[in-house]
Amino acid sequence: MAWKTLDDMDLNKKRVLVRVDINVPMENGEVTDATRIERIVPTVDHIQHAGGTVILMAHYGRPKGKVVPEMSLEHIAGTVAEVLGWPVVWANSDYRDAVKELEGDEILLLENLRFNPGEESNDPAFAKRLASLADIYVNDAFSAAHRAHASTEAIAHLLPACAGRLMQEELSALENALETPKRPVTAVVGGAKVSTKLDLLGNLVAKVDNLVIGGGMANTFLAAQSKDVGKSLCEHDLADTAREIMTKAEAAGCTILLPTDVVVAREFKAGAANEVVSADACPADAMILDAGPAAVAAINAALEASETLVWNGPLGAFEIEPFDAATNAAAAKAAALSKAGRLTSVAGGGDTVAALNKAGAADDFTYISTAGGAFLEWLEGKDLPGVAALKG
Ligand code: 3PG
Repeated sequence: MAWKTLDDMDLNKKRVLVRVDINVPMENGEVTDATRIERIVPTVDHIQHAGGTVILMAHYGRPKGKVVPEMSLEHIAGTVAEVLGWPVVWANSDYRDAVKELEGDEILLLENLRFNPGEESNDPAFAKRLASLADIYVNDAFSAAHRAHASTEAIAHLLPACAGRLMQEELSALENALETPKRPVTAVVGGAKVSTKLDLLGNLVAKVDNLVIGGGMANTFLAAQSKDVGKSLCEHDLADTAREIMTKAEAAGCTILLPTDVVVAREFKAGAANEVVSADACPADAMILDAGPAAVAAINAALEASETLVWNGPLGAFEIEPFDAATNAAAAKAAALSKAGRLTSVAGGGDTVAALNKAGAADDFTYISTAGGAFLEWLEGKDLPGVAALKG
């Protein structure tokens, strides 16, 4: 690996500034999913047990350089302490004093970094102020590594820097899936719009053996093949782009799997009357809301024959039943193959984890990334600034 890890650092009696991503969902003041906090436990425990003092820094939401009280990290400091199992002190803005006042095995949690405009502008002065609090910098926020911010980029050049355990784990899972994978590799890419995933599709066709396209974006590809998609969500203006991606895939030896049959309905609502039709027979007044059973059988056959799977995005309108059927069935297949040790499966980005959780499949996947946008940018083949900065 081109970057250092916690194993390369002498942490004893050192102050260690750890960039984490605890941008967790909240409702009515309560954290509704603490996964991102749970996943930083190994890094925090390692530093604490090695005799270091942990100073956590993180962002919450998008306050755009202003103090937005609802986005204060004070609201989640209690949950952070509970999940980490260490006493946590929250520091408003007098960071220096707060660091000096730390006692015993207390951990410091700095206020939302994005309250300061210097964070998002990658301001060297703000990075310097943060760096002055500690002896060592650890980046454990893969899911924020696509941002070139003061706490993810500039600071890495100011202190001895290394990757935390979660960062290490995310990078090695993604490398195993796409850089040095066991073949054949299948990628499942779903979601509403092709326009948001053009770079991703372009990068993947050059790297994977099978590309399953699902969700609303499959309609754009079907329409590009002159199939009538009725009232389905579809970006007709991207027909040429879709054809270019198909041509690129063919040249690269990547098989694109589009649905051969689809589930159509006249209303976008749970329980709407629906029927399965051939992918070239969507009625003019209907919309495609899911892949059909023949399409699922083809996907599952591809998974059976694969060694590696990368999954991003649902195959249909998974939020409303019964249009979650294709996503659930393919996710269950991937989970079973992974559990049996026959498939290395990595999933992440946006709605993906919610869809796999809903399908009851997430626990059996080999690796579930905590990242949304960063996972997508990684699949696009981009160099993530937060990872690049760790390389020195
Ligand atoms: C995320 O939730 O994906 C990360 O915390 C990054 O958040 P951002 O998109 O606001 O930079």
